[in-house]
Amino acid sequence: MKKLIRRVDLSKQWKSEEKKILPVIKKILSSGNYIGSDIISNLEKKIAKYCGTKYAVCTNSGTDALTLGMHILNVKNGDEVITPPNSFIASAASIVHLGARPVFAEVNDNQLIDPKEIERKITKKTKAIMPVHLCGKMADMQSIMNLSKKYNIPVIEDCAQSIGSKFNLKKSGSYGNIGCFSTHPLKTLNSAGDGGFIVTNNLKYYKKLKLLINHGLSDRNKSQCFGYVSRMDSLQAGILLERLKSLNSRIELRRKNAEIYFRELKNLPIKLPYENNKEFNTYHLFVIQTKDRQKLKNHLLKKAIETGVHYPIPIHLQPAAKYLGYKKGDFKKAEMQSKTVLSLPISEFLKKNEIIYICNMIKKFFNEK
Ligand SMILES: Cc1ncc(COP(=O)(O)O)c(C=O)c1O
Repeated sequence: MKKLIRRVDLSKQWKSEEKKILPVIKKILSSGNYIGSDIISNLEKKIAKYCGTKYAVCTNSGTDALTLGMHILNVKNGDEVITPPNSFIASAASIVHLGARPVFAEVNDNQLIDPKEIERKITKKTKAIMPVHLCGKMADMQSIMNLSKKYNIPVIEDCAQSIGSKFNLKKSGSYGNIGCFSTHPLKTLNSAGDGGFIVTNNLKYYKKLKLLINHGLSDRNKSQCFGYVSRMDSLQAGILLERLKSLNSRIELRRKNAEIYFRELKNLPIKLPYENNKEFNTYHLFVIQTKDRQKLKNHLLKKAIETGVHYPIPIHLQPAAKYLGYKKGDFKKAEMQSKTVLSLPISEFLKKNEIIYICNMIKKFFNEK
């Protein structure tokens, strides 16, 4: 039987970097500095430089990055935050954790929040706008920042899926007041456990965030505010520092894989992701859209190809969101996409012949239909 082509195979990543990462782990473990070491500030500097911002603060997850980011923007009970309904649950959850209400705005055909819909949802209670750069593709940040200025509402970018992505040559996370990233093992820049970071150009936000992630402590015994335990540990930071070095070349490999898909799948009855000349897509996910999603998914699995669905239930229809009072039909595009989207393997660790094989199996499905 053919070996399963996995969508993400972290053991392949480990094989490619074992020689570089093992000494890093050994050095950190033997140093005894597991928390709050220089490695963290070193990583923060490199991340800020990579994202084109003045500051970065490492956190213990993308969810905490979003929650603390909104804390800094003073989002609280009774406020509203506008966000798309088709993200991972954590985007909306972070709003709820602060006592605020997620107000969903419909997405475009490209799965990204529609700035016109954001404007329609702005009220006196709107405290922030949270676009989500889904699948490695950035939302229209020019229009969103224009709205931010027009209505004087801050923007918090959910960049969990968009490290390195650009819109008009500017990196994700560098447009809004705050940008929040995840380094979950399944992300393009990944730690070996949970992790994340926040980027900003605002010194006040930076200083406050540094306190908030660590009990509000300004030194060993003095707390300036009641904080959290949301810091990244040295091991994750050491691994990320090493992986950051190869991030751009890994993104290029993903883009090469995407090119093969574009070339091979262009004449099939499926919607492919597209990239206009304002965008630089890092293809965190390569998502096609087809009405035959489930049948194609089953067919590919029989051919030893693993695919994913991001995401089958829009957030406004999740049981957790029932109290918000949304119903089926409120966001027709997002709901339709939840039934048609299929994430193909795009990992930089796949071989060219594996991508060609996937394309051939997709062609076979449509030829035999
Ligand atoms: C769009 C989006 N937002 C937020 C998160 C939350 O990140 P984390 O899992 O690191 O908490 C994720 C990660 O899965 C995500 O994909």
